[in-house]
Amino acid sequence: MAGVLLTGIAGFIGSHVAEVLADSGWAVRGVDAFTDTYSPQQKRDNVAALSGRAAVDVRTADLARDDLAELLDGVDAVVHLAGEPGVPASWGTAFGTYVERNIIATQRLLEAATAAGVRRFVYASSSSVYGPADRPLLETEAPRPLSPYGATKLAAEVLVGAYAQERGLSTVSLRYFSVYGPRQRPDMATHRFIEALLDHRPLPVFGDGRQARDFTYVGDVVAATCAALTAPVPSGSVFNVARGEPVQVCELIAILAEELGVTPRLEHRPERAGDSPRTEGCADAARDLLAWAPVTGLREGLRRQAQWHLRRRAAEPPGPAAPAQPYASVAGRQVQP
Ligand SMILES: NC(=O)c1ccc[n+]([C@@H]2O[C@H](COP(=O)([O-])OP(=O)(O)OC[C@H]3O[C@@H](n4cnc5c(N)ncnc54)[C@H](O)[C@@H]3O)[C@@H](O)[C@H]2O)c1
Repeated sequence: MAGVLLTGIAGFIGSHVAEVLADSGWAVRGVDAFTDTYSPQQKRDNVAALSGRAAVDVRTADLARDDLAELLDGVDAVVHLAGEPGVPASWGTAFGTYVERNIIATQRLLEAATAAGVRRFVYASSSSVYGPADRPLLETEAPRPLSPYGATKLAAEVLVGAYAQERGLSTVSLRYFSVYGPRQRPDMATHRFIEALLDHRPLPVFGDGRQARDFTYVGDVVAATCAALTAPVPSGSVFNVARGEPVQVCELIAILAEELGVTPRLEHRPERAGDSPRTEGCADAARDLLAWAPVTGLREGLRRQAQWHLRRRAAEPPGPAAPAQPYASVAGRQVQP
């Protein structure tokens, strides 16, 4: 059984990647620092969802500080998802954390992976490496990050390319576009909107709500990531992982509200620095070379995420803030708190 080191296994995307890799025959060694960027309990819950899979071994370590040689011992490939995510929080003094967790951690891991002779290193890059554009973004577009977060993701991607070119490591970088779905991070828009709708609270919308994002379902992102592990593509390749159908934030809210049967109340707030007015990725290269295509429609994906929020609430002990009424129906199913 081939072995893979999966960094960031306790996170939103990492926990999904672990499930699919384990179910497709990989021995998964996962590592996570369980940082407190958001609730470490949510991360423990993500890991708990993996229990029962004998092929998954979860270890706690900090890639920026701890010794990595043992983690890489005996693995054939690396999927590197660990990092400090989030555009708005990356300004100001938090930048040092982004440098440590996105750049230093990646460089240390690249060094260790090269020494261990792994056969493939897959890096989770981001659409945040691009500047604003009113056309579909191609991988050949000159990167122009609008935020400190994007700058650190790009710096790490450049390092990945350097290890490919100069140190003989076989790498693939994937630029994920606005990933959503079950277990999404609580700072992300779809998560915040669903929670506000379920609580009948106003929805915080930054700017006029017309900014468009290329929302891409987590299951599709996982499929691209797994394909990149074995695809016969040139080392140093970079691919967009995007659905290629941007949707305005206000349209996203309208779908969620319809699915949950709640009338949304929007609370407009000033635009945030670093937020691009529009992102749209062209994923033709991933289609051609990774034989990958997104298959999940936006409404279906949002329904699955909403169901996850409802299941999570149903499992929580009722607290003082729990709504007295049953939650709205999702896909025609009434879910009681
Ligand atoms: N979610 C998105 O829409 C999106 C879009 C583009 C790129 N990405 C990238 O995908 C990756 C995963 O994103 P996510 O949304 O699942 O984030 P996440 O925060 O849920 O997962 C990241 C995980 O990495 C861990 N981690 C952070 N620093 C670490 C370190 N030094 N050592 C070990 N573990 C560490 C965290 O504890 C966390 O569990 C990130 O690299 C992110 O930049 C995500």
